[in-house]
Amino acid sequence: LRVGVVFGGRSAEHPISCVSAGSALAALDPDRYEVVPVGITRDGGWVLPDPALRLAIVDGVLPEVTGGTAVTLVGDPAGRGLVRLDGAGPRIELDVVFPVLHGAYGEDGTIQGLLEMSGLPYVGSGVFASAASMDKEFTKKLLAAAGLPQGDHVVLRDAAGALSADPSLLDEAARERLGLPVFVKPSRAGSSIGISRVTDWAQFPEAVAAAAAVDPKVVVEAAVPGREIECGVLAGPGGGPPEASLPAEIRLRPGTDWYDFTAKYLADAAEFDVPAGLTLEQTRAVQAAACRAYLAMDCQGLARVDFFLGAGPDGAERLVINEVNTMPGFTPISMFPRMWAASGVDFAGLVDRLVEAALA
Ligand code: DAL
Ligand code: MG
Repeated sequence: LRVGVVFGGRSAEHPISCVSAGSALAALDPDRYEVVPVGITRDGGWVLPDPALRLAIVDGVLPEVTGGTAVTLVGDPAGRGLVRLDGAGPRIELDVVFPVLHGAYGEDGTIQGLLEMSGLPYVGSGVFASAASMDKEFTKKLLAAAGLPQGDHVVLRDAAGALSADPSLLDEAARERLGLPVFVKPSRAGSSIGISRVTDWAQFPEAVAAAAAVDPKVVVEAAVPGREIECGVLAGPGGGPPEASLPAEIRLRPGTDWYDFTAKYLADAAEFDVPAGLTLEQTRAVQAAACRAYLAMDCQGLARVDFFLGAGPDGAERLVINEVNTMPGFTPISMFPRMWAASGVDFAGLVDRLVEAALA
């Protein structure tokens, strides 16, 4: 079986995708798969990268696909699996694509549309679930429609334009309701890129500008106090109902305010409990909510669902969904493969299941 592992891409998460792909490539059993690594440069060129490219963070330096043998994806919608990478080198026909891409043009339905048009099976969610899960506004709408609890938030459209017209942007009533701190986020992004934690409304215009530089649509979220819990979901074998992993917890080390890009990938600022120290009842509640979220978003193959577990206004325990990631990180610090390993599915078995689901 020839698997094209596609990574890099045009989003700000380009280097994280490279690191995720490094782990995925190492997990694909060479006796079972012929693996074709395919890089996408930051400006969108498809290449067979130099095999010497290190897909890891080395001494704080993030990897990047900068060049290689240029290739083109040539679709053949009439015959599944007959897609060719036509370039200077020989033609390569792929049976299945594993788009290990995060963020825009990778996790947002766009490459999924390209692969659909090409008639090529691929790992993970289709166009709709990818697009909806990438967009925090619509994730919240769909999860709310399924009765899944949400944090309070406000959506600012055309935030950069609105900001120049009205630097205050959010009226007094909304500020009062959300309280401080708030998290100001680009609606479509990942790895905490463009996100600020605002503890004083004087910081708000700058935070909106930073988010709007990533996506003109900005979401302002009330902080949800509580433990940060994640849960992996995989498509059930043989098309059965989705299955949830054991949940994990992220605990920030003292001195780290929140889980931003540096804390995530560069600063070793967090400790991970895999599995999380939860009661059986809490574990079941997280797993059930993760599967419901996967179904509510119409996900396929895999997802990682992120939660806050805290107390509601009445003091009772409350589980709030933060977001759904349709192509969660596979980096050495990423939770998805580790949660599955703790649940009895090792990385090689995980990749087998993902490829199997893609071909089903
Ligand atoms: N967006 C990053 C890769 C994650 O969710 O793990
Ligand atoms: Mg995310």
